Amino acid sequence: MTSELTYRRRHNEMEQPAAYYGKPMKLIHYMLREQRLVFVLVGIAIATVAFTLFSPSPIPIPIPIPHYSDQLSMRSESSSLAQSRRIEYLTGGMGSVGGKIPLGLKRKGLRVVVTGGAGFVGSHLVDRLMARGDKVIVVDNFFTGSKENVMHHFGNPNFELIRHDVVEPILLEVDHIYHLACPASPVHYKFNPVKTIKTNVVGTLNMLGLAKRVGARFLLTSTSEVYGDPLQHPQVETYWGNVNPIGVRSCYDEGKRTAETLAMDYHRGANVEVRIARIFNTYGPRMCIDDGRVVSNFALRKEPLTVYGDGKQTRSFQFVSDLVEGLMRLMEGEHVGPFNLGNPGEFTMLELAKVVQETIDPNAKIEFRPNTEDDPHKRKPDITKAKELLGWEPKVALRQGLPLMVQDFRQRVFGDQKQDTTTSSSTE
Ligand SMILES: NC(=O)c1ccc[n+]([C@@H]2O[C@H](COP(=O)([O-])OP(=O)(O)OC[C@H]3O[C@@H](n4cnc5c(N)ncnc54)[C@H](O)[C@@H]3O)[C@@H](O)[C@H]2O)c1
Repeated sequence: MTSELTYRRRHNEMEQPAAYYGKPMKLIHYMLREQRLVFVLVGIAIATVAFTLFSPSPIPIPIPIPHYSDQLSMRSESSSLAQSRRIEYLTGGMGSVGGKIPLGLKRKGLRVVVTGGAGFVGSHLVDRLMARGDKVIVVDNFFTGSKENVMHHFGNPNFELIRHDVVEPILLEVDHIYHLACPASPVHYKFNPVKTIKTNVVGTLNMLGLAKRVGARFLLTSTSEVYGDPLQHPQVETYWGNVNPIGVRSCYDEGKRTAETLAMDYHRGANVEVRIARIFNTYGPRMCIDDGRVVSNFALRKEPLTVYGDGKQTRSFQFVSDLVEGLMRLMEGEHVGPFNLGNPGEFTMLELAKVVQETIDPNAKIEFRPNTEDDPHKRKPDITKAKELLGWEPKVALRQGLPLMVQDFRQRVFGDQKQDTTTSSSTE
C-alpha cells in the first residue's frame, strides 16, 4: 500500500512539469488568436497616457512665498475656508496629494523634535516638516514664541506641542532634534541675561544628552554673533571672531559659542551626529512685532524708521523660507559644519530704510539715534561652504520678502488694536 502511494506521488511529480509548461503555451496561442494581443497592448498604452496626463506629481513641493499670504488670511477667514487653505498650504497648493503617492514611494515620516518651535523661525520649520509628513513635537516655554504660530497644526495627529523649558531635561523618542530654543533678539535676550546663558548652555547640554541617549541627529541653530564685531569681512566659518566676553550681549554671543563647543565635544567624545548652523539676520512673517530687531522696527506701523549711529553699519537679511531650506538641507546632509546661513546681499541701515520707503511707505520718515553698545559695524556671510557642500543659497530678494512681512505685521497690529478695544470696553 505504502509503496503504491509512493509510486503514485512520484508518477504525479513526473507528470506535473508537462502540465505546468503546457499552460503558458495554451495561453500564448489563445492571445495570438483574433488579435487579442493587439487589444491588450492598445489598452495598456491608453492607460499609461491617461495616468501620465491626469495624475499630479507625486512629491509635494511646498512653494513658500505665495502661501504665506494664505497663512495670514487664515487667521481672519471662516474656519471652513481656512481649513481648505490650510490643506493647500501643507500640500504646497497641489490639493490632496498625500493619497496619490504610490505606496512604494511614500516617504516614511521621521520623528522630529523642534525646541523653540513656537517661535519665528521654528514655526516655519515646523510647517515644512509637517508638510512632508514628519511627526513633529514642538518643545517651547513660550518666552518669545506663541501658540498662535503653530495652532494651525492642532488636531493633526502628527503634531504635538509640549510646554517645557529646555533648561530642564526631557526624554522623547525621536530621530532628529532641531535645537532652536533661545530668544534671538537683543531686547529679549538682554531681558534676563542669566536665563539666556542658562538656556544656551544647560538647555543645549540637555538636548545633546537626549540626542546621545536616543541616538538622534542634533542640529544647533548658532548665530553670526559668534563672530562678534568681526575684524574679517565677509565672515568665513574658519574665522574665530572678535567677541567681548563681559559685555551686555555676551550672554547670547558667548552662550552660543559654548553651545557650539558642547555640540562638537558630544560629536567627538560621544559620537553624536551633530550639525551646526550659524544664522545671519533673518526676517519674515511671525517675527515678534516689538522685538527691536531692525527689519521689524522698519516694517512696523507708521513710526519713523530708526537708524542707529550714522546708519553706515551694514547687515545682510535673509527671508525665513531660505533659512528653513538651509536648515533642512544641513540636517539631511552629511556635513557637521559650522555653516553660515545668510544672505550675502549687503545693505547699510540707511539703504534698508530707503528700500522700506520705496516698497512700503514713501512717506516714512528716517530718524537717527545714538548707536547701542557692542552693535557690530559690519556683518556679511561668506556662504561658499554652504553653496558647495549643501547646494544651498538664498533665493528671496529683500524687495520680494519685505512686503510679505509687512502684510503679516499689519494684520497682527490691526488684530491687536481690535483686541485692545474689546478689553478696554469690557473693563469700563
Ligand atoms: N532670527 C534670526 O535672525 C536669528 C539669527 C541668528 C540666530 N538665530 C537663532 O535661531 C533660533 C530661533 O530664533 P527666532 O528668531 O525664531 O527666535 P524666537 O525668539 O522667535 O524663537 C525662540 C523660541 O524659543 C523659545 N524659547 C526660548 N527660551 C526657551 C527655553 N528656555 N525653553 C524652551 N523654549 C524656549 C521661545 O519661546 C521661542 O518660541 C534661536 O536659537 C536664535 O538664536 C536666529
